[in-house]
Amino acid sequence: MDAFREFIPGAANRHNYGQDRRGPQNPRLSQERAPIIECLLRYRDTVRLHMPGHRGGKGADPLLLSLLGQETFLSDVTGVPAMDELHEPQGCIRQAQELAADLFGAGHTFFMVNGTSGAIHTMVLSALDDGDYIIIPRNIHKSILSAIIMAGANPLFVRPVYDEYLGFALGVDAQGLIRYLQTNPDARQAKAVLLVNPTYYGTSQNLRPICEAVHGQGKLLLVDEAHGPHFHFHRNLPEPALRAGADAVAQGAHKMLGALTQASMLHVQGPRIDLARTKAWFQHLTSTSASYLLLASLDAARRQMALSGPELIGRAIELAGMLREEVNHIPGLYCFGSEITGQPGVDALDPTKVTVTVRELGITGYQAETFLRDKLGIQVEMSDLYNILVIVSFGNTEADIRALLEGLRSLRRAVEAGELPRDLQAAQQSIPDLPPIPEMALSPRQAVQSKWERVPLEQSKGRISAEVVTCYPPGIPILYPGEVISQETIDYLRIISRLAFGISGPEDKTLTTLRVVRDV
Ligand SMILES: Cc1ncc(COP(=O)(O)O)c(C=O)c1O
Repeated sequence: MDAFREFIPGAANRHNYGQDRRGPQNPRLSQERAPIIECLLRYRDTVRLHMPGHRGGKGADPLLLSLLGQETFLSDVTGVPAMDELHEPQGCIRQAQELAADLFGAGHTFFMVNGTSGAIHTMVLSALDDGDYIIIPRNIHKSILSAIIMAGANPLFVRPVYDEYLGFALGVDAQGLIRYLQTNPDARQAKAVLLVNPTYYGTSQNLRPICEAVHGQGKLLLVDEAHGPHFHFHRNLPEPALRAGADAVAQGAHKMLGALTQASMLHVQGPRIDLARTKAWFQHLTSTSASYLLLASLDAARRQMALSGPELIGRAIELAGMLREEVNHIPGLYCFGSEITGQPGVDALDPTKVTVTVRELGITGYQAETFLRDKLGIQVEMSDLYNILVIVSFGNTEADIRALLEGLRSLRRAVEAGELPRDLQAAQQSIPDLPPIPEMALSPRQAVQSKWERVPLEQSKGRISAEVVTCYPPGIPILYPGEVISQETIDYLRIISRLAFGISGPEDKTLTTLRVVRDV
């Protein structure tokens, strides 16, 4: 620990993080170090008479051993004094977290081994008490609802802006949100605002004015930045939430940086955060046997960004730019770029997220994804009714991009030749406007903990939903647990159940019946 603190190379500061990006600030912490990895390397030759049972791979099943390799098992250590402890870190984990906090500009960073979901749970539970109110957009990731349920909190939903042509939700309208915060009596009672920024599709909002308004009302700004940990490392990316002043930020290091799947970070800063309380919730929600494979990968992802972030992210931006430009030369395909910014809900764009809109070909994004996967062995990030979403990372090569472009050209040829049915055209989508946000009669926790019953959709008027109902499109939930089912919602669900390409949440995917609270 002392040697670590005394190491003063200053080398990591040589990189150009861009005028609007900060690099590491503390010259006493060397970003070239990787304390957790160094500890694991020192531990390799130790005679192991402790968990885990595979004993450094010697006791592992040969099939798994051949899949993962002995090296992986040697680093799969947990809970021994030489290796520090995630719940009360004093050694290498503490150092690695301090390095991450320094690099990202946080007051404190927690390494998370249960995904960005774990970071969100910790962030929300440490901010809210039972019965507190929180303002959130309606199209949150399910981990935010789980956190609200666990906290016993009450959501105050705001609508995100919906782009009809692209068929997905953007951010919330900042001006509308600020007005709501300043004038709406319901909003006054909220303790925090939680925003999802950027969206899965890479659209991002200018959080600064929102942050000022939220803080001006004495509330916390929490940000689900699952898709934006790389924002810190390139000037051509949207501003990171921490820099914009957010109090707590959950980041998916495994999604956009080089960390292993599940490895994420929670950053907190400033006087509004009760750090002791956050630490307590972190402990309540985190395994006592955290995987050092995940922790080491967070250490390495931080080091990689500190040493070469701007170059690596710059390369991804360049590749994505090439992809975007060439896709826009393929007739029938469209790939939005910076022209999307400036409308409500979008101030900036992460160019490494490349959304290819296929609707003009008359096919669905689902068909395009299936074609690329089944015919050409190319797997994109995801698809929806009108689009496929591709994430270009610094791990991609020009050959990957060329393969995808060739795949998209073959897709178009297959549609032209009639080898792929025009499902979208056949469906003649005409999605009705969403019904108003329903009144909330119970907190989501009260609703999911109550006794349920299943009733026919047509007889559900006035009942309280005990489940989430989301239809694609628009991918914005129609019902949350605790909400009162209105006639408008019933009418909407009756129509959409015939048109929607996907329904998620309810047990009965046909929407013939709904799960409702039995007794209040
Ligand atoms: C916006 C957003 N937030 C949170 C999460 C949860 O992340 P994880 O899968 O790492 O738990 C996701 C997952 O895709 C997400 O898209």
